Amino acid sequence: MKIGIVGLGFVGLSLSSVLASKGYDIIGIDIDEEKCKTISDGISPFFEPELENLLKNGLKKKLEISNDFSLIRNCDFIFVTVGTPQNTDGSINLSIIKKAVSIIGENLQRSKKKPIILVKSTVIPGTMKKNILPILEKKSNKKAGKDFGLISNPEFLQESTAIRDTKFPHVVVLGGYETEFMKKAKKLFIKLHPNVPIVITNHQTAEMIKYANNSFLATKISFINQLSNICQKIPGANVDDIAKTIGLDPRIGKLFLNAGPGYGGSCLPKDMKALINFANTTGVTPTLLNAVEDVNMKQLEQIISIIKQRLGNLTSKRVTILGIAFKPNTDDIRNSIAIELIKKLQKRKVIITIHDPKAIKNTKKFFGDKIKYANTIVDALSESQCVVIMTQWKQYEKLNNNQFKNMKKKFVIDCRRMLTNKQLDVDYFAIGLGKEN
Ligand SMILES: NC(=O)c1ccc[n+]([C@@H]2O[C@H](COP(=O)([O-])OP(=O)(O)OC[C@H]3O[C@@H](n4cnc5c(N)ncnc54)[C@H](O)[C@@H]3O)[C@@H](O)[C@H]2O)c1
Repeated sequence: MKIGIVGLGFVGLSLSSVLASKGYDIIGIDIDEEKCKTISDGISPFFEPELENLLKNGLKKKLEISNDFSLIRNCDFIFVTVGTPQNTDGSINLSIIKKAVSIIGENLQRSKKKPIILVKSTVIPGTMKKNILPILEKKSNKKAGKDFGLISNPEFLQESTAIRDTKFPHVVVLGGYETEFMKKAKKLFIKLHPNVPIVITNHQTAEMIKYANNSFLATKISFINQLSNICQKIPGANVDDIAKTIGLDPRIGKLFLNAGPGYGGSCLPKDMKALINFANTTGVTPTLLNAVEDVNMKQLEQIISIIKQRLGNLTSKRVTILGIAFKPNTDDIRNSIAIELIKKLQKRKVIITIHDPKAIKNTKKFFGDKIKYANTIVDALSESQCVVIMTQWKQYEKLNNNQFKNMKKKFVIDCRRMLTNKQLDVDYFAIGLGKEN
């Protein structure tokens, strides 16, 4: 049995490496030739814990990486894991996935196999039936359900734990028609993940499940952020104690209740926007989802207004940002809230220095020489008038008076409450803590 995986980003490369390390015969395909070469050399193009070891291990077994799409003609299963970014109006941009399935279709025409195509990319409800299926049938001159299987198989992994999530998903969703292809796919997943619930439903429900998941997570974050703003007005109140306690209620659950500067990353903001846009096209006004986004944007505005309150006019003021990656243990800065903060500060002519243990290279690609980059925390803080801790990297927990001593003005904004228990000789503001009078 041969498995093809088309699109070797966070989702596709994690899946390729996990399956290959288990001994499956895998062909990983990406349109980016340079990327294919890097991966073939056993180097991951992005930082993800455990990934590179697993990739090297897979390459020693039956993992082949290529930009030659004709190799999928021999595959029994083909996973589609290409990106589905957003248009400027927030709607989903399907051009990448349409192109990918077109090439798959063309190759299907010359294939003697009856493969099962599983779409892992996040797509709005209706995309499989309205876009992907017609493209595949037209380009292959074959019939879905007869000559090939087509299944929606949304992915729920999180970056920074992508390998663990790929090995041990909490659920497998298979959307499509109850055909022999579906039975075969179910068999593969039972073998891969015994004891994991498998939900079989239709395409549009499977597509919607993914958006329900991500929009609920975004809602939890905006909920706790709104509460954290109220806590800030109650002397002595602590949002973490509240989050921990309500999280013990099994109806609520403890995850995604960390108050902070707002949600970011490659998925939540774009999926929220796509769902809002989609809801509007159906005639449903997504009042709650709009509010979730609004709270998220205001969280960032709040940080800027706190900096302004302390520093006054921001022109030529020096601000340090600690942490640019959208979460710790990744170098991914796509839609990171820290990037948004930098953009807003740049507009106010602030002199910005940043530090991040993994994401400096990606940030440089974005801002070039428009901001300063520091290799050490001490260098980042030197002469600064305000530091904002944005990402919860472990190393920022160890910040101490010695590191702050060369700041011109020792004003610390702690968006993650990492330093709350320390005796620090600084002017300290933490999101979600009400200052004692
Ligand atoms: N990153 C996550 O945490 C995550 C989690 C769950 C679901 N998803 C969804 O999974 C999908 C992939 O996300 P990602 O973060 O892995 O994306 P990514 O941008 O990291 O990777 C996509 C890859 O596809 C390649 N590609 C583009 N066009 C191609 C084509 N025509 N043929 C072959 N390869 C092509 C790109 O070169 C890139 O390597 C998206 O729909 C995303 O919303 C992502």
